[in-house]
Amino acid sequence: MREITVPVGDRSYPILLGAGILDSLGTHVRAAGIRGSVALVQDQAVAGLFGRRVRRSLEAAGYRVSPVAVPSGEASKSLAQLGALYEAFAGARLDRGSAVVALGGGVIGDLAGFAAATYLRGIDFVQVPTTLLAQVDASVGGKTGIDLPTGKNLVGAFHQPRLVLIDLETLDTMPEAEYRAGFAEVIKYGVIEDACLFDFLESNRDALLGHYPDALLHVVARSCEIKARVVGQDERESGLRAILNYGHTVGHAVETAAGYGEYLHGEAVAIGMAAAGRLSSRLGWLSDEDAERIERLLAGYGLPVRLREPLPEEGLVRAMRLDKKARDGELRFILARAIGRVESAPVLEPDARAALRKIQAAGT
Ligand SMILES: NC(=O)c1ccc[n+]([C@@H]2O[C@H](COP(=O)([O-])OP(=O)(O)OC[C@H]3O[C@@H](n4cnc5c(N)ncnc54)[C@H](O)[C@@H]3O)[C@@H](O)[C@H]2O)c1
Ligand SMILES: [Zn+2]
Repeated sequence: MREITVPVGDRSYPILLGAGILDSLGTHVRAAGIRGSVALVQDQAVAGLFGRRVRRSLEAAGYRVSPVAVPSGEASKSLAQLGALYEAFAGARLDRGSAVVALGGGVIGDLAGFAAATYLRGIDFVQVPTTLLAQVDASVGGKTGIDLPTGKNLVGAFHQPRLVLIDLETLDTMPEAEYRAGFAEVIKYGVIEDACLFDFLESNRDALLGHYPDALLHVVARSCEIKARVVGQDERESGLRAILNYGHTVGHAVETAAGYGEYLHGEAVAIGMAAAGRLSSRLGWLSDEDAERIERLLAGYGLPVRLREPLPEEGLVRAMRLDKKARDGELRFILARAIGRVESAPVLEPDARAALRKIQAAGT
């Protein structure tokens, strides 16, 4: 088992990683100092796969466990589901010493984490992420929240978990497309921080797509280390944390312009990384060879680097202007200086438009 610390002062916490470690959850929750009862908030589909093991492990460690199932899918990051969780917590008589354990992907982590952040003004929280995206990204860093009909993640709080337990074996049941989409974020860590990770992803693609535990442990652990370091330096996203948004300016614009659900998040981010790479090379920051190398790696993991259907440029530009990095109408991008090094920079609209043309569907 590997352990990585997320260094956030007196709220620092461990990420535990391994293959087949789900049954040890109860022991680790106990070791994290949680003494009260536990609400086990679980994705409905994931509950059927791992819910019983997780519950047994918690009960064996002496916890009173109240399971709460949440329907799978982004639609559950809603005020209605949040309200249902508060009612379930009250029904289970959670108190200030109780904890919420989130079992599922990023949807469950964000929703259950926000419920934990706000119930009784904040109770303890444990993440057991079961998707690749949640293991390398959503479960680490303490961002929690829900969506409103007008937009994603509009309501939220920073609430660090007490513990993150990552069992790589849970990924074995993931749908293939979702699994591959998770690699967009892993590739992102290579581009922003770690050329060695990037090389490893190039050399070990078959092992990783084949779920080899050693290869997977290496890239998930490395991703968590990078995110932990960045979060440790900039917990509230006032500076450095923005580099984690590499590929996300255009990625979010693609998700918005195409309509949510048209692209998986990782697929949109892959297209966004292709655009950011092209923009970086257009501005003379990155060589054309490296921009192409990034696209080849993404494509090697079955990720798109061009839009599947053309999208109107105006819609994409409008969505980019709403990006949280844009200030006073000025577009800002995270751009690559090299594979393994990025910086935030203002970008002129004609340059951004030129990059958008590079990612239009083939033949347009
Ligand atoms: N808090 C953060 O820092 C942060 C960062 C990135 C993304 N997010 C959020 O994460 C969410 C996306 O997370 P996600 O991609 O994990 O989606 P998700 O939680 O919707 O999970 C994807 C699908 O996989 C299923 N699933 C989960 N684990 C499984 C398993 N082991 N086997 C089989 N099926 C499984 C789920 O039922 C669901 O249908 C978004 O809401 C996004 O905003 C948050
Ligand atoms: Zn992302």
